[in-house]
Amino acid sequence: MNSPFVLDTKTIQYYIGNGALEKSAKLFSDYSSVYVLMDENVEKYCLDLFLKSVPGLKVRGFIKIPAGESSKSIEHAVHIWQSLTNLGAGRDSLLINLGGGVVSDIGGFCAGTYKRGMPFINVPTTLLSQIDAAIGGKTGIDFDSLKNQVGLFIDSKAVITDPVFLKTLKPEYWQSGFAEVTKHALIMDRELWKILGHRSYKEVEEWNDIIIRSAKDKIDIVRYDKGERNVRKILNFGHTVGHAIESHFLKSDKPITHGQAVAAGMICEAWISAHIEQLECNNVGEITERIDLSFQRLNISEKDIPELMQLMRQDKKIRNGEFKFSLLRRLGKAVHDVVVEPELIEDSIRFYINNKKCE
Ligand SMILES: NC(=O)c1ccc[n+]([C@@H]2O[C@H](COP(=O)([O-])OP(=O)(O)OC[C@H]3O[C@@H](n4cnc5c(N)ncnc54)[C@H](O)[C@@H]3O)[C@@H](O)[C@H]2O)c1
Repeated sequence: MNSPFVLDTKTIQYYIGNGALEKSAKLFSDYSSVYVLMDENVEKYCLDLFLKSVPGLKVRGFIKIPAGESSKSIEHAVHIWQSLTNLGAGRDSLLINLGGGVVSDIGGFCAGTYKRGMPFINVPTTLLSQIDAAIGGKTGIDFDSLKNQVGLFIDSKAVITDPVFLKTLKPEYWQSGFAEVTKHALIMDRELWKILGHRSYKEVEEWNDIIIRSAKDKIDIVRYDKGERNVRKILNFGHTVGHAIESHFLKSDKPITHGQAVAAGMICEAWISAHIEQLECNNVGEITERIDLSFQRLNISEKDIPELMQLMRQDKKIRNGEFKFSLLRRLGKAVHDVVVEPELIEDSIRFYINNKKCE
């Protein structure tokens, strides 16, 4: 077994890769009382494994939320604050967010606001949270059908990422995480783009190195720009159109995963990149082909475009009514704050819907 990647930034400690759980176990001994937040699937598939890997962990209480995006709500935040209160958690206690992006988002938000802030550690158990959601200090809940409408930037004390958890992950969540891995490759890591190659996520056999590489990409960015004032914005590639699509489906009775929305968003935004940045059309073709290997096209039609545009106008990334995008200049290189006219965005959605060729 390889050793995990270890990084201590003075404010956050990262342990990433096979063996991370065992290697980091000593971290928990700093806390006298520990609470574990998880969802029902994580309790079933990951809790025993976690507890066995950290012998001697003094857990004072377990807090459970239902699985799924609908748990990222104010009602579940109240449940978590109430449980912490009932269980007697103090500011010197530790909350462990054991789970996917839903758990780390709402858990970080609740820990960051409970008694004006209690420490927390993220132990991500989905591909998406291992390479993305658990890293970078963005926490929050959905509100009024809008994704991540209420939240705060706050760092976890540590992120402990062990691929061992992923053995029980359902295929749709491998797929969802793969969208963000692909994004990291496209915006900043051409070598990763090569490693991923022309294959679907189902054909990847060796994940450890991909997870380490992709998580390091995100760490590199957020270390430079935690508050998303400049370079961090490139992580939003695929997410302006993608978030609108995700919110659109969140309102329907057929919600989709975050990754499915981002995959569709990346196709649209790659096309926009070819029209106002210098990305070549053959690169758009390559990106589209590769994304299509892993993701089926979503059921969106011309009549959905006005609603998607309206949802985009409510996006936190839209300033003074201007649509500012993070786009690709070339494979492995992104730029941010590019103003895009609404008509071009609408056309990019048509490009996606009609499965057109970039020319
Ligand atoms: N904060 C950020 O920077 C950031 C970045 C990207 C995404 N996100 C957020 O992350 C969320 C999506 O994250 P996600 O895809 O991890 O979703 P998730 O947390 O809902 O997990 C997906 C599913 O997998 C289950 N699960 C978790 N670990 C498992 C395991 N090891 N084995 C079996 N099942 C397991 C969960 O119960 C759930 O049903 C979204 O809310 C998104 O907005 C946040």
